[in-house]
Amino acid sequence: MQTDILVIGSGIAGLSYALKIATQRPDLTIKILTKTQADETNTKYAQGGVAAVFNPEQDSFDKHIQDTLIAGDGLCNREVVEIVVQEGPVRMKEIIAWGTDFDKELDGDYKLGKEGGHSENRILHHKDVTGKEIERALLAKIAAFRNIELIDYCFAIDIITQHHLGKLVTKATPNIEAYGVYVLNENNNQVEKIESRITMLATGGCGQVYRTTTNPKIATGDGVAMFYRAKGRVENMEFIQFHPTALFEPGKRFGQAFLITEAVRGDGGILRNSKGEEFMQKYDARLSLAPRDIVARAIDNEMKILGDEHVYLDCRHMDIEKFKEHFPNIYAKCLSIGIDISVHMIPVAPAAHYSCGGIKTNTQGVTSIQHVYCCGEAASTGLHGANRLASNSLLEAMVFAHRCAEDSLQRIDTIPQQETIPDWNAAGTSDPKEMILITQSIKELQMTMSDYVGIVRSNVRLERAMKRLDLLHNETEQLYKTTTLSPQLCELRNMITTAYLIVKCASFRKESRGLHYNLDYPEKKTETENIIL
Ligand code: FAD
Ligand code: SIN
Repeated sequence: MQTDILVIGSGIAGLSYALKIATQRPDLTIKILTKTQADETNTKYAQGGVAAVFNPEQDSFDKHIQDTLIAGDGLCNREVVEIVVQEGPVRMKEIIAWGTDFDKELDGDYKLGKEGGHSENRILHHKDVTGKEIERALLAKIAAFRNIELIDYCFAIDIITQHHLGKLVTKATPNIEAYGVYVLNENNNQVEKIESRITMLATGGCGQVYRTTTNPKIATGDGVAMFYRAKGRVENMEFIQFHPTALFEPGKRFGQAFLITEAVRGDGGILRNSKGEEFMQKYDARLSLAPRDIVARAIDNEMKILGDEHVYLDCRHMDIEKFKEHFPNIYAKCLSIGIDISVHMIPVAPAAHYSCGGIKTNTQGVTSIQHVYCCGEAASTGLHGANRLASNSLLEAMVFAHRCAEDSLQRIDTIPQQETIPDWNAAGTSDPKEMILITQSIKELQMTMSDYVGIVRSNVRLERAMKRLDLLHNETEQLYKTTTLSPQLCELRNMITTAYLIVKCASFRKESRGLHYNLDYPEKKTETENIIL
């Protein structure tokens, strides 16, 4: 297969990028790959909404910029923060024009919610299912373009570079070029090559590396792992954001946890420990609406002090009718497991939620590998620093999709198609005899990361994690060399690489900052820097 533009990922980042290119250049061919069904993305599960300055009488770009910088704890790139905040409202108007519906007040103004770390109400939302609405609108828009082909159940395995043409490629190689990707096409069970002039990595996050996460099963860090294998630059992987309030369901120890959006706290929900006591006043003057790193650490501490598996979010004092109107999905989910929020408190615990670091890009989404762009959660643009401000992610994805498209359109006509790429070599492999070798390794990996590389870390825990990962890596590479490929095996391999990058960056950071807290270095350094691998 050949295409001008290859987009890997059908979340907000990949779809908005593809739409921009398709609109401006109907003559270009665009393929979008997605590893399961098209809408199964982190995007679909976004609840709270999109942060953007839509009420200039009260709010301002300056305030949004300041809030982002404060949350980012000294590591944000100010230029990028200004770009995203200032260009955000224009991009929002675009997705509204593409058919996304955001809730409005009776007078026609947008309803603006509040979340942790925001000094003003600025979160546009569609009830508590904002991401589902965005994903629906973008997929509907994509379907109208004849030059876009969306291929589902097609798993990108590796980026094709000079390495596949028989040349030595190392981190020091100056001009690494990408020519496309090898994919495992589940529609025919073949490994195929897709040759492209430009490749966009919009592969999303890696929450599945942890035992409990708000992310769906697809979030296994594939883009970051394949880019790193291709000798590209990634950075700041230690900054894994734990969302403070994932629903705690007894007996559900692995996998995706249902999110209770921060907007519930924005509307008045209060955190309490198992004794029924409010506790956030011990940790931060902004109480339940402090930035996420602070709230998640406070909850973790309360759980450890009392030996509990969760704390509570108390909504009993809130106006139940208003709650149902803003959060119908949460209300229904709680009720389905016997929690009537007007009578019972909601049991919640932190869960891995968002990767602030990732593939290093410049302000146009350009990466260290030529002809590869990256945007969305897989990218590290410099916006989030050491801790992402709530609801800045969807915004960043839109702003950077636009910037990547601008840059791609300027360059595409100068990029030739590479014609001499070898086929995938599957010699010496046979069908797996025992899937347990893969499924159990995934569990071991998730336990290791949650137990040793979670909200609170230490040197000993990081060393232990690295040793366990080493073992898993060796066993999995052996399996990879001898076994017919499956998405599960590729995911395991990618999760191990992603976990390795998290631990490696965490070990290099000799301080505690934002989302990274190490008991052996509890202080912040006065001078700090990004960790680039
Ligand atoms: P995704 O939407 O995750 O899409 C990734 C795509 O890549 C998928 O299509 C997947 O199939 C594809 N893919 C991955 N690997 C491969 C591969 N190897 N081969 C082929 N395809 C592949 N952010 C906010 O700003 N506001 C919110 O309110 C908010 N709420 C959230 C709530 C939840 C529960 C979660 C999980 C996240 C939330 N976030 C929120 C974060 C935000 O949703 C994500 O960061 C954002 O949607 C990521 O978009 P993306 O396009 O980068 O990736
Ligand atoms: C939430 O709704 O609490 C999640 C928002 C985010 O991750 O930005």
